[in-house]
Amino acid sequence: MKPILEAQNVTKHFPTGGGLFQKKGLVKAVDGVSLSITPGETFAIVGESGCGKSTLARLLMRLIDATTGDVVFDGKQVTTARGKALSDLRRDVQFIFQDPFSSLNPRMSVGRLVGEPLEVHAPDLSKSERQAKVSALLAQVGLRPEHADRYPHEFSGGQRQRIGIARALASGPRLIIGDEPVSALDVSVQAQVVNLLGDLGRDLGLTLILIAHDLAVIRHMSDRVAVMYLGKIVEQGTTDDLFERPRHPYTRALLDAIPDPDDRGSASRARIEGEMPSPLNPPPGCAFHTRCPHATDLCRTKVPMPQTTPDGHMTACHHWQDLGLTPRQTTASSRSPATQARLELYRKATEGAKIIPVASKTPDREELT
Ligand SMILES: Nc1ncnc2c1ncn2[C@@H]1O[C@H](COP(=O)(O)OP(=O)(O)O)[C@@H](O)[C@H]1O
Ligand code: SF4
Ligand SMILES: [Mg+2]
Repeated sequence: MKPILEAQNVTKHFPTGGGLFQKKGLVKAVDGVSLSITPGETFAIVGESGCGKSTLARLLMRLIDATTGDVVFDGKQVTTARGKALSDLRRDVQFIFQDPFSSLNPRMSVGRLVGEPLEVHAPDLSKSERQAKVSALLAQVGLRPEHADRYPHEFSGGQRQRIGIARALASGPRLIIGDEPVSALDVSVQAQVVNLLGDLGRDLGLTLILIAHDLAVIRHMSDRVAVMYLGKIVEQGTTDDLFERPRHPYTRALLDAIPDPDDRGSASRARIEGEMPSPLNPPPGCAFHTRCPHATDLCRTKVPMPQTTPDGHMTACHHWQDLGLTPRQTTASSRSPATQARLELYRKATEGAKIIPVASKTPDREELT
């Protein structure tokens, strides 16, 4: 199938410093990323904080300009799009932000927030048609028509994220990029929002790019996963393959560090030995060599090129074939209790009502009267 979105060797280097006390430098936030997204799939991007996920997401939809490289959406250049091509892109590709508290203008009613993209992308709609469409969009995300007259501060985090999703859906997008869309929410609410996104993706035939550092969310939702480290994709494969047979030592470390869902303070942070080096001064050779238990002299000097197996699994590691990576035991019985609990939570939420009615007595909704 023809890809809906392709990135070829995309980089984003931010110049920094140059002041009185700081040396000039370049933050290599995204450093040579290539990917190809299939229509209708959910593609996850994972990696520790600061590895370049948000920058990559912004490049893919041209919220920022790339330093070098190409992005192509539906056969059209994103990197050089202007005028109508750029406004078509703004209609077709939408973004869901991490923080539902700051991403919605507090002075706009929900009706205006959701209706605004319609004014831009469907200017021919009459006022009543637009209102009807806003009501339909609110229903689609599990909110009621009368919520259109309220303001963001009257809603809980999960409900605000639903408003954000309704706003993203308003233009009739084909691709939605969610930048950690649930990581600011309570675990129980996360499951509802994750499942809402999954249902919408399926029902509307949307392609989703999901950025998350919560591996349980990714395992639950995505078809394929790319693992990023210091601006580069170091491993990519189908979700099952990557979770059950990770090849890159960094992916293995990430999976081994799946945190306890009850440990709220750090629930979404993977813990791996050592600090991630600064993208201002990345280590030579394989950027992971400062933390990798398998590093050799070759790793310290030569950048590992991505190697792709015939089944499409990509790994950028000099030694992945020599490491004797036995499959990880990820059957239900051998997962850690913490991971099992999180997966069970998502499974239950999926089995329940598709969209949990706003009036139900979940903690996320009790504030609404
Ligand atoms: N506008 C910017 N100017 C300078 N550095 C930036 C800018 N945006 C992001 N960075 C840096 O780029 C790196 C990647 O950031 P980001 O893409 O936000 O990572 P992630 O989303 O994975 O946490 C970080 O080191 C961050 O400090
Ligand atoms: S290339 Fe070397 S340092 Fe990098 S992940 Fe592979 S073994 Fe570790
Ligand atoms: Mg980010």
